[in-house]
Amino acid sequence: MTFEQLRLDGVARSFGTANALSGLDLAIARGEFVALLGPSGCGKSTALNCLAGLLPLTGGSIWLDDVRIDGQPPEQRGFGMVFQNYALFPHMSVRANIGFGLKMRKVARADARRRVDEALRLVQLTDHAAKFPAQLSGGQQQRVAIARAVVLEPPVVLMDEPLSNLDAKLRLEMRMEIRRLHQTLGLTTVYVTHDQEEALSLADRLVVLRDGTVQQIGTPEEVYAQPVNSYVASFMGYRNLLDVTVTGATGSSVTVEGAGARLTGHGLLTEGPAQVAIRPEDFVVGDGTENALDVTVEIVEYHGRELSVSARLASGVPVYFRTDKRLAPGDITRIGVPAERVLVFEP
Ligand SMILES: Nc1ncnc2c1ncn2[C@@H]1O[C@H](COP(=O)(O)OP(=O)(O)O)[C@@H](O)[C@H]1O
Ligand SMILES: [Mg+2]
Repeated sequence: MTFEQLRLDGVARSFGTANALSGLDLAIARGEFVALLGPSGCGKSTALNCLAGLLPLTGGSIWLDDVRIDGQPPEQRGFGMVFQNYALFPHMSVRANIGFGLKMRKVARADARRRVDEALRLVQLTDHAAKFPAQLSGGQQQRVAIARAVVLEPPVVLMDEPLSNLDAKLRLEMRMEIRRLHQTLGLTTVYVTHDQEEALSLADRLVVLRDGTVQQIGTPEEVYAQPVNSYVASFMGYRNLLDVTVTGATGSSVTVEGAGARLTGHGLLTEGPAQVAIRPEDFVVGDGTENALDVTVEIVEYHGRELSVSARLASGVPVYFRTDKRLAPGDITRIGVPAERVLVFEP
């Protein structure tokens, strides 16, 4: 089945009086990889289950081009689903698990066999086709779950934190695997995760959620470099969030004071309380940079090429930065950050 656009129009879902999802507007183009990102409880699974047809909406509508689908049962939508816990049939072989949906759809034996073989090859499990799920590693089980979803050539594949039960190394491998499958099969994928790095690396577009409401929709570059508020910023690794006061503004540049420091940044222009967000990577150690701050180094963590440093301003406020300079606890050093990397938000 082909389509141009999957559209969520004010999709809402409440449980009793609590809104798990309120008014989600989102248009997903065919072939796009969209990630729903946010902390536990923000409504990601609710949104995905509404898309799949596993949860009825309490408001809004869902459209595949000009066909309204939110009244359709899951099997009629035919979206592929991949869950965190794999949900494989334990008593069926890998081959039978992958072929199950084709059998249900009464696809002819020879055709089904060819498609299962192709899916096995895609997820590199050809040699394990006769095994049972319990005989496979977590990563292999997850690959079976993915093969089972894509073998049906669904219009849309929905994935709910599919990698969160895997160890770090396997997570990286499977991440590339998922992106590769998305590209080679020309899938349309909606992917749920609480892991910003996973979302940034996989998706064409991110939807950042908080308490069931959209905070920002944008490309990884946009959300990473221009978060719209301090919530999205902190989620995107702007680890330094300082409470400050806006004391002046000229053009697009803002002066803020707080924590015993005075900084120039950009963003919120109205005088009064504000919050400043700075990424640890955006600080530079040494004299002669903008926004100079003198800090005392407290904790140094080794990260290969770089050190991750926790330090304090004279006011006692903590500051985090990264550097390739060999600093040690107790060192007093000057750091600075370009004004364009100092984001000023409403508190
Ligand atoms: N079946 C349910 N009954 C009651 N509340 C639910 C149910 N499912 C989810 N919720 C609530 O809805 C909110 C969003 O949940 P969920 O979509 O699972 O979040 P996420 O997947 O982002 O962790 C949470 O507050 C959760 O407790
Ligand atoms: Mg969830």
